[in-house]
Amino acid sequence: MHKSVLLNECIDNLNLKPNSIIVDCTLGYAGHSSEILKKIKNGYLYAFDQDNEAIKFSTEKLLNISKNFEIINSNFVNIKEELNKRNVTHVDGILYDLGVSSPQLDEDYRGFSFHQNARLDMRMNQENDLDAYYVVNNYPYEKLVDIFYKYGEEKYASSIAKGIIKNRPITTTLELVDVIKENVPEKYKRDKHPARKVFQAIRIEVNDELNVFEKSLKDALELINIGGRICVITFHSLEDKICKDVFKSVSEIDSRIKKLPIIPDEYLPKFKVIKTIQPSEIELNENNRARSAKLRIIERVG
Ligand SMILES: C[S@@+](CC[C@H](N)C(=O)[O-])C[C@H]1O[C@@H](n2cnc3c(N)ncnc32)[C@H](O)[C@@H]1O
Repeated sequence: MHKSVLLNECIDNLNLKPNSIIVDCTLGYAGHSSEILKKIKNGYLYAFDQDNEAIKFSTEKLLNISKNFEIINSNFVNIKEELNKRNVTHVDGILYDLGVSSPQLDEDYRGFSFHQNARLDMRMNQENDLDAYYVVNNYPYEKLVDIFYKYGEEKYASSIAKGIIKNRPITTTLELVDVIKENVPEKYKRDKHPARKVFQAIRIEVNDELNVFEKSLKDALELINIGGRICVITFHSLEDKICKDVFKSVSEIDSRIKKLPIIPDEYLPKFKVIKTIQPSEIELNENNRARSAKLRIIERVG
């Protein structure tokens, strides 16, 4: 089962009130959503996911708490459009707990895990056309190297891409793992799993994860009420950098304006970065998934 990461830290920092309107962009198995719903007795929760199994499970779980929620079966890149369709233009809190859930990793047919054999898939939305099989078996060498570098920060991108092209067609996750192992030095296999960076890169490419997150986060800033907060849990440096840069862009005064003796109100930042939290030792000992997690929090102040 999925163990929620930084759960109490998110709940404490969303500043929940009984009548808050909250958006959980990554419902998953409703760990965060359940606690949110318990605290917003007269409020409302909109929760996004595009995984039918997670939606089915979480609908039942949330119905045991209250009826004040709607699950939106859509990519969170559509946050603004989907809320506007429901005549919602402003909300009091937004949460992102990025990545895949433990059940998604464990289900052998989803192809996310380098530990389990499965057809190369990795689609979060199983109705999408692009899957890992297509990327691995059709992308040219240059494009493979590019995504392995950019999305995986994989230093052996070039030799792995060459190995992939030589061994095509590659149908399953474990075939891909073997090709990766054959194309990296022995010492690279000792510390961490040698396939983890390439798997991360392919997953990001298949789901266009970084672009989707950046667009959604920028839209989320427009949706938040004064006093409202956005909490983002990231699991790798690329997501975290996007979050940090977007937050910085709306919370700092332009360096040219900063030099003025009096700063006009319209130039004062509309957001304040509250803090960044990493999981406690206790959580790290209990939940391996929390290892690389980071929670960033921003509040609308003007
Ligand atoms: C880490 S899990 C969330 C777990 C959840 N917070 C909990 O405690 O149970 C991330 C979830 O977000 C979903 N997800 C990831 N990217 C998404 C996107 N772009 N749009 C909608 N859902 C997405 C995944 O399908 C997955 O169920």
